[in-house]
Amino acid sequence: MEKNLNKLYKAKKAARHKLIMLTAYDCPLANILDEAGVEIILVGDSLGNVILGHQDTHRVSMADMIHHTRAVAQGVKRAMLVSDVPYRAASLKNARRLVAAGAQAVKIEGTRDLRLIKQIIRAGIPVMGHLGYLPQSSAKPGLQRSETIVEQARQLEQAGVFALVLELVEPKLAQKVTKAVKIPTIGIGSGKECDGQVLVTYDLLGLSCWSPKFVKKILDLRALISKAIKKYLAP
Ligand code: KIV
Repeated sequence: MEKNLNKLYKAKKAARHKLIMLTAYDCPLANILDEAGVEIILVGDSLGNVILGHQDTHRVSMADMIHHTRAVAQGVKRAMLVSDVPYRAASLKNARRLVAAGAQAVKIEGTRDLRLIKQIIRAGIPVMGHLGYLPQSSAKPGLQRSETIVEQARQLEQAGVFALVLELVEPKLAQKVTKAVKIPTIGIGSGKECDGQVLVTYDLLGLSCWSPKFVKKILDLRALISKAIKKYLAP
């Protein structure tokens, strides 16, 4: 299964297929994304700041990830469901718990856990990598310019990850990484030259309390909901 998936995603890249991944944390939104044709739905650890009201993703627990993966899985019939393994909880056991909750693959930040990543893949669970700004382990968000990312991407490709998120990577460097590997890169705030793009859906729809500058909102749901509620409240 894992080998086939790897082959499939390499073929998608070779065919210049544009991968779109969006986040969901609950059943109704996941269902809307799924029915609209989103290819990959991510239960990201952005759950912490987007939904749970934390300042960052650091306090997101395995229990949180399992709870929301279960909810999302109820709404998804067609898309691939990927769940983040919280950085401090990365283990084969926890990857299996996310799969039991409905994930088809897991995402793991950085290259610290290369051996673990290989172990999870050997156990038959597809892994998506994540390089650049690492929300669970980097201090503050900022554009990543270190060329070491090219070598890290090669290491992850060799370890067998099927795709690679590049978060806040300087666009020319993201392009270099994209050219250096045969697996698809999925960018967020990393320019247009990645093989695909990922966004936090709440940012895209204008529902987040705060969203990064690079996101072009396609809707202002906050304003729409506020207007509707005020109308409802009006005597
Ligand atoms: O947690 C998340 O939403 C993510 C995306 C930003 C890629 O990891």
